[in-house]
Amino acid sequence: MSHLVIIGAQWGDEGKGKIIDHLAKDFDVVARYQGGHNAGHTVKIGDKTRFLHFIPSGIFRPDKICIIGNGMVIDPGELIKEINTIKADGIDVGGRLLVSSNAHLIMPYHYLLDSSKEQDLGEKNIGTTKRGIGPAYADKMRRIGIRICDLYEKERLRSLIEENLKEKRLTLKKLYGLNCPEAKKIEKEYLDYGKKIEPFVTDTTLAVRKYYEEGKKFLLEGAQGSMLDIDHGTYPFVTSSSPCIGGVGTGLGISPRKLDKILGIAKAYCTRVGSGPFPTELFDELGNQIREQGKEFGTTTGRPRRCGWFDVVALRHAIWVNGFTSLAITKLDVLDDLDSLKICVKYKNNGNAIEDFPTNLSLLENCKPVYETLPGWKKNISGIKDYAQLPSNTKSYLKKIETLSGTPISLVSVGAERGETLVK
Ligand code: IMP
Repeated sequence: MSHLVIIGAQWGDEGKGKIIDHLAKDFDVVARYQGGHNAGHTVKIGDKTRFLHFIPSGIFRPDKICIIGNGMVIDPGELIKEINTIKADGIDVGGRLLVSSNAHLIMPYHYLLDSSKEQDLGEKNIGTTKRGIGPAYADKMRRIGIRICDLYEKERLRSLIEENLKEKRLTLKKLYGLNCPEAKKIEKEYLDYGKKIEPFVTDTTLAVRKYYEEGKKFLLEGAQGSMLDIDHGTYPFVTSSSPCIGGVGTGLGISPRKLDKILGIAKAYCTRVGSGPFPTELFDELGNQIREQGKEFGTTTGRPRRCGWFDVVALRHAIWVNGFTSLAITKLDVLDDLDSLKICVKYKNNGNAIEDFPTNLSLLENCKPVYETLPGWKKNISGIKDYAQLPSNTKSYLKKIETLSGTPISLVSVGAERGETLVK
């Protein structure tokens, strides 16, 4: 296998961290291209569960180079904490963790703007992670953002902070009655962060090119999911970056022509955290059962995730937008106890059948799922090591997803452990 991109096919939390950790052994470089610490990737190795927010999930394999691309937004204080936690576990990151000098910084006022806007929206809130992600990306697009490279030019950093504070102070005070931290305090704090992360900071576009030309194999890691994409998701209930394939080129500086395979990761059911349309959501006891069984609580915020049946209409949208060459289906074991399973094959809206995922929010909000029902397998599948040994009802469920989506399944995950990933 050559260069591979891994992208969430649903609303995030599909179990990408585990699949990336599993696959990373066959690659040399693992690189992330978008998002920030709104993401929470979980990797279970032995009896230890580790959580990552910025650093690519390849970091637990000591010979892998891990890149934080220019398309990400970084709170350097939080990144330092993450690096220290990994180091405390005895994992050496020196020389193999690269942080883009062009990545934008999440500043203290971004957190304030994010949470106060959410509060202001009341019931209409997006349900963001309140990590300042949206305001940081907004500043990037407005060309007033502050980048990691600015941490090494003191005068420039000072003037950028002062310029930004002029308007942020006004907004925070006038709209939300909040005070902004002092420019000097921010400057001092960020200069200090700059020193601490300096050994990792580099031009990652050049590094990507160099490694590519040396023949190294790339695994590119998306955060969140396709349905949270700023362009192709359920706008405005989305994140502020491009988890979909388009984000790879802009977030790492590599042409899509250089990539070979694109693996879409989907859970065996659907979840969503935060607000926004979710046609197959279960509001009954079954939804609670799946949440408990699947431990569906946010890695970043601890929020309970909304749970529902597998949605092929949404999946087909993600397949088209990304061009998935195959799928990985995760957390299949969570459905072990169910008597029967449902797959949403189309929607109904005012009596009309809808086969294509609607991008119009009002239309989507009024869509009702149309299901096909399949028998459950009623067996613990977690210990199974070989795809062929899965119960026939499990295989039928997977076959149905393949047929309805027109995309082959190449991997299946039946538990949280490294070994519990089956190759089809
Ligand atoms: P933000 O990215 O914090 O601005 O949040 C925007 C939306 O994306 C909210 O609905 C969040 O719950 C959701 N979101 C952001 N990051 C993740 C993630 O890693 N997994 C699942 N949902 C996420």
